[in-house]
This record gives sequence, structure tokens and C-alpha cells, in this order.
Amino acid sequence: MRLLLSIPWLLATLSHMHGAVADIRDLPVTRRGSVLYLNGSPWRAVGPNVYWLGLDENVIPPAGEPFYAPLNASYPTRERTTEIMAVVKAMGGTMIRSHTLGVSTGNPLSLMPTSGKVNEAAFEAIDWAVYQAKQYGLRLMVPLTDNFDYYHGGKYDFLRWNGFDLNRARDEKNPAVQNFYTNSKVVDAFKEYVRILLTHVNPFTNMTYAEDPTIFAYETGNELCGPVWKDQDVPVEWVREIGRHVKQLAPQKLFVDGTYGVNKSHLSIDEVDILSNHYYPISINLLRQDLALVSSANKSYFAGEYAWNRASLTTDDDLAMWFREIEKSPAIIGDTFWSLFGRNAPANCNQFVDHSDGLTMQYGNPAHQARIQLVRQHFVKMSQGGTIGADAALPSVPCLAALAPAPES
Ligand SMILES: *[C@@H]1O[C@H](CO)[C@@H](O)[C@H](O)[C@H]1NC(C)=O
Ligand SMILES: *[C@@H]1O[C@H](CO)[C@@H](O)[C@H](O)[C@H]1NC(C)=O
Ligand SMILES: *[C@@H]1O[C@H](CO)[C@@H](O)[C@H](O)[C@H]1NC(C)=O
Ligand SMILES: *[C@@H]1O[C@H](CO)[C@@H](O)[C@H](O)[C@H]1NC(C)=O
Repeated sequence: MRLLLSIPWLLATLSHMHGAVADIRDLPVTRRGSVLYLNGSPWRAVGPNVYWLGLDENVIPPAGEPFYAPLNASYPTRERTTEIMAVVKAMGGTMIRSHTLGVSTGNPLSLMPTSGKVNEAAFEAIDWAVYQAKQYGLRLMVPLTDNFDYYHGGKYDFLRWNGFDLNRARDEKNPAVQNFYTNSKVVDAFKEYVRILLTHVNPFTNMTYAEDPTIFAYETGNELCGPVWKDQDVPVEWVREIGRHVKQLAPQKLFVDGTYGVNKSHLSIDEVDILSNHYYPISINLLRQDLALVSSANKSYFAGEYAWNRASLTTDDDLAMWFREIEKSPAIIGDTFWSLFGRNAPANCNQFVDHSDGLTMQYGNPAHQARIQLVRQHFVKMSQGGTIGADAALPSVPCLAALAPAPES
């Protein structure tokens, strides 16, 4: 009895003596019931979607830099990536959801340009982003594929590489798209892609992505559907198989069901920690329905995308009400708005990078300031429980001049 009691005391004393207080950035985010925890306290996931961290489509790089003109694909500069981490920190965010840290297939600059072929050079931008997120104390949620056929690739690549001549423009409603989930050759090819990604060693950290707790969650994919838009027809067996695969490679990762919308039949999949939906425009009624379903299974709920700006239907009051609703529901682990861009560093610090979908937020753009203040209030409330005034000045974030090349390649 005496011995048992003294062991924790002894360990605590030893660790104190050696100053071995764990760096919180090395600890994994965990789930108990519907709530996420970090270092023993509830942790909430708030931030932006920054889809371009691994590969971008919005900047034409200087001549001589890698560029794939048919898709305008290029790697983001280290300066742009680092600036975004500083912006998320200044906004009070705790994490970023980023498609291209996981979705990178089908063009010459992708991680997997063609079936089974790995392009090592494509890891560099991803490595840097994961490393910088860690430096800034941020976490990452990373989708593993995409429902569509955009520049960064998605499910159609795995279909085309394995005998199904399908593309989104022609075949979005073709029942054959379900082969992505049901054909064992296609499923195995996707699982191999996931294995290659998760076992890559990041030279900035000497850890695999599977080991690095900076990536707290992998998501099956972005907005996954069947042949009908938003039909939620993603087979239970496939979600379970991908979940087992991810947890076998990376036992400490949380696993997100990336089906577009909450499919009731997925609630009982043990491997799924987090379910989510996207909101264009925001809808408190839909949010409540989604939360009720997910709470009934004692799992976590995440609002993975929502329209934040004036061009969408929402007024400032609508956005504030949406945030209050999320803040008061502990089973909603958090949210990520769509989507954040920074300046065109180091080439032109006077120019914001823009994306054509009309939903681009640019920190420092006076036209976005009022909404950014609302978002920041929400992030601070969620991450620190604190309140800041609606008119609190936004911390300034410098645009980075050229960073010295880091020792990788
Ligand atoms: C939900 O999970 C938590 C943590 O495992 C547990 O304590 C709680 O009893 C569960 N609630 C329900 C309703 O199952
Ligand atoms: C590439 O960018 C140029 C210049 O912004 C634009 O005119 C062109 O349409 C883009 N191409 C694609 C495929 O998006
Ligand atoms: C990674 O490992 C290499 C080889 O052992 C070592 O030279 C390097 O300093 C390590 N880097 C980090 C960030 O730990
Ligand atoms: C949910 O998933 C099941 C199982 O794959 C599927 O049959 C169903 O069509 C999906 N959609 C809805 C709305 O339940």
C-alpha cells in the first residue's frame, strides 16, 4: 500500500527535479464522449479552412519555380504558410482544416501524380506547414481525399487509375462512382495512398505524420457523396475500413467521417470520433438537427465549413447568433469557416491572394475587418473562455520578407 502510494509521488518528484514538464504541443488531443481534451482540459477546435497549404492554384509563381499551367497549380511559399499561422494565432484560433495537406493526387505537382507513383518534392510544402503549425501551437484537421475533381485531385483519380473512366463533369450522377467505396482494387489503392502519406517522415520534426500530434485528426474526405448531390451515400463498411486503417497506422489520431452531412447509419461506427456538416448558408436549425443526432451517439460534432461573409445571405447578427449557438453547446467541438488567404509573400506584400469563390477572408483587408472581429471574438471565447470587445483592435501580423531557405531537400 505504502509502495503503491509512493510511486506517483516519486515519478512527480523525479520529473520535477529534471524539469521534464511535457510541452503541450507534444500531447495528443483525445476524445471522451462528445468532448475533446488536451492535457486534461476540454479543448475546442476553432480556426479557418486554409485549403492551399500543400498546393495552391491562386498564384502564378516566378519563372523557374514548379508550376503546372493547365491547373495553375504551384507550391505556396514558406512565407505565405508562416504568415497564415501567425494570422490564425492572432485571431485566437486553435487549429486549421486543410485539404491539400492530405488531398494531393493526379497532377505533376501532386504527392501521387499517377497511379502508385510518389513525387517526394510535393512533401516539402506539407512538411513545412505541419512544422510551422507546431511552432505556432496550432493543430491540423486533414481530409484524405475529395468528392470532386479539382486541381488537387480526389476520388476520381483513384477510380481512373483502376479501370473506371469517370470524371466529375460527365459522371457526377453515374452510379459507377460508387466503385470508389465498393471496388476492392480502388479501395486498396486509396488505402495505399493513405499509408504512404501517414508514414512519411517530416525532416523538420523527424516524425511521421502518423506520429506527429500536430495533426490531431484525419478525415475520410471532403464532402463525400454518392451519385446524388448530398445523398450521404457513403457505405458504412468503407468508413469502417478506412477508419481501421488510419487507426492502425496512427492509433492516437481522431477520425472524422467526411460524409457530406450526418448519416444516421454512421453513428455506430466505432472508429468514427467526429461527424460534421458544411453550411452554405449558415443554418442554426440544421446545426441543431445535426448536433442532436451526433450527441445521441455520444460522439463529437464539428462544423467543418460555413459561409462567413456579407456576399452570402448572413447579416452580422446572424453570424453572431450562429457563434453563440456553437459556444453554448459543449458537444460541438468547434468550427472552421471557409476560407482564409494571406498576402502574396514574399513577392508582393501589398497584394492579398484572392480565390474566385467569393468567400475569401483576408486578414488586414479593411473590407473584412468587422467580420474578422466577430470571428475573433468567437475564437477567443471558444479557445480561452474569455471575452473581448467587438471593437477590440486586431493584432497586426507582419508580411514576411523572404525567409532564409531552410535545410531541407
Ligand atoms: C458518454 O461518454 C462519456 C465518456 O466516456 C461517459 O462518461 C458518459 O456516460 C457517456 N454518456 C452516455 C449517454 O452514454
Ligand atoms: C490561371 O490563372 C489565369 C490568371 O489568373 C487565369 O486567367 C486562368 O483562367 C487560370 N486557369 C485555370 C485553369 O484556372
Ligand atoms: C533529425 O535527425 C537527423 C539525423 O539523425 C538529425 O541530424 C537532425 O538534427 C534531426 N532533426 C530534428 C529536427 O530533430
Ligand atoms: C447513409 O448510408 C447508408 C449506408 O451506406 C446508405 O445506404 C444511405 O443511403 C445513406 N444516406 C442516408 C440519407 O441515410
